[in-house]
Amino acid sequence: MLIKSAEFFGSVADYKKCPKPELPEYAFIGRSNVGKSSLINAICNNSKLAKTSSTPGKTQTINHFLINKNWYLVDLPGYGYAKSSKMLREKWYDFILGYFENRENLVCTFVLIDSRLAPQQIDLDFMALLVETEIPFVIVFTKTDKLSQADLGKNLRFYKKKMLETWEEMPQNILTSAEKKRGMDQVLDLIDELNASYGK
Ligand code: GTP
Ligand code: MG
Repeated sequence: MLIKSAEFFGSVADYKKCPKPELPEYAFIGRSNVGKSSLINAICNNSKLAKTSSTPGKTQTINHFLINKNWYLVDLPGYGYAKSSKMLREKWYDFILGYFENRENLVCTFVLIDSRLAPQQIDLDFMALLVETEIPFVIVFTKTDKLSQADLGKNLRFYKKKMLETWEEMPQNILTSAEKKRGMDQVLDLIDELNASYGK
């Protein structure tokens, strides 16, 4: 799929204020600093679309980007930001759960995971929560440019092994690098496929 247009549509601090659920949407979630905003920019070929930062906690609201005038990419605030207070973490949880449980036009969620790290409990817990709430998701491993091919392979094997301790199978996953524009086609092909069957 070609991205012909990508526009910032709006930013809200309450899921109830999201755009009318008239178009299919795809959300990007994951720990703070994992590269959600960067991936959206890489997919859209526009480094200035979503705000990125080397300091975790940059995205604090629900941000909609209208793509090709007929679907949305959604940039969400990250979880697991160490500096945030308990109250803020609980607020994040309610806020994000509200979004996931109520967004009827949410077709698929991309759960971003830093390919350099060993499996983190917070990500495994979050994916389990998505299963509980019956929200389809795909894992997106990020920042693969920061690893050698051998280390990447090793980390992926370890991730799979860890997941299979509790999961029946490894969820669908895509390897990406926003830096090297790796995996963008796979993300877009998947969205294209899901858009084609949306509403059918
Ligand atoms: P929050 O909004 O704070 O939750 O973070 P985020 O997940 O949106 O992360 P963001 O896209 O702002 O990226 C965080 C940092 O990681 C930035 O310094 C990016 O330049 C860097 N980064 C993101 N993706 C990649 C990648 O594929 N490769 C490399 N090398 N760096 C990346
Ligand atoms: Mg962000």
